[in-house]
Amino acid sequence: MTNHRVIIDTDPGLDDAVAILFALNSGRFDVLGLTTVAGNIGIDITTRNAGRLLGLLGRQDIPVICGAAAPLARPGIDEAAIHGNDGLGGVVLPEPLAKPHGYAPFWMAEQLRASHAGSVDILALGPLTNIALLLRDHGDAARRIGRLIVMGGVVDDKGNVGPHSEFNFASDPEAVDAVLGSGLDVTLVPLDVTRKVRASVEFVQALRGGVAGNAAADLIAAYFQNGRESRPLHDPCVMLLALAPELFEVETRKVSVDLSEGVDAGALLAGSVSVKIAMSVDAAGALNLLAEGLVA
Ligand code: RIB
Ligand code: CA
Repeated sequence: MTNHRVIIDTDPGLDDAVAILFALNSGRFDVLGLTTVAGNIGIDITTRNAGRLLGLLGRQDIPVICGAAAPLARPGIDEAAIHGNDGLGGVVLPEPLAKPHGYAPFWMAEQLRASHAGSVDILALGPLTNIALLLRDHGDAARRIGRLIVMGGVVDDKGNVGPHSEFNFASDPEAVDAVLGSGLDVTLVPLDVTRKVRASVEFVQALRGGVAGNAAADLIAAYFQNGRESRPLHDPCVMLLALAPELFEVETRKVSVDLSEGVDAGALLAGSVSVKIAMSVDAAGALNLLAEGLVA
């Protein structure tokens, strides 16, 4: 079975954490490093949480590299109401095993230059600030990225920030614009799809048993709010598409991004840039694959 060589760019965050546990525990990814970005919560906490997840699984072989503390040109959006002030909904994880390295865009460029062109995919789970900085400051290295698979945006569904804007894209619209215009092999996984991959209470209970499964169950349980029946697993969908693209139907759409100061900043608009967008998913198949990787 091929192992995918990946860099995971992330703002953990409860669903990021489940996605990272899946990638590490499944044994199907060769994770070169976790690069962190401010998003769901501030950079110090997202970076600490990335280290805590690696500490939980004893993965001191994988580095955490600290990235952008703020979007390119706007203030960030606070999501503590969903992810908690610790970014993990109060779920207690061990302390990081090692100090984080710095600085994510530079480190990404080093990894890409040291690898065969196209052999490293980037799985982007938060605002795209680090990727935009990599493109701006290390364009030669950025062009060596294989697939760039991004949780972000919303096409036909309603937004989760503005009426038509999604959190990762609304957090840093300028970064989205840079990525869309980069010519890279980009696939977006929008809310239209991620909201269909929903964890139920039964799904959570079935995860329990091993270290990763127990932690994922605790994290998803913390993600349940006000007695809701299920929660969307946004970020794990990026790993699932990387691993099993046949579970998704991907279309090519021509888009641009709303760069206004209005309520829908970061929204995807009709435009001139062709980009691949996952528009439907075999949700049952996706959840089965996710559970397999978490309880392995
Ligand atoms: O809109 C969902 C996205 O915003 C996910 O990546 C979640 O972690 C938050 O960052
Ligand atoms: Ca995220």
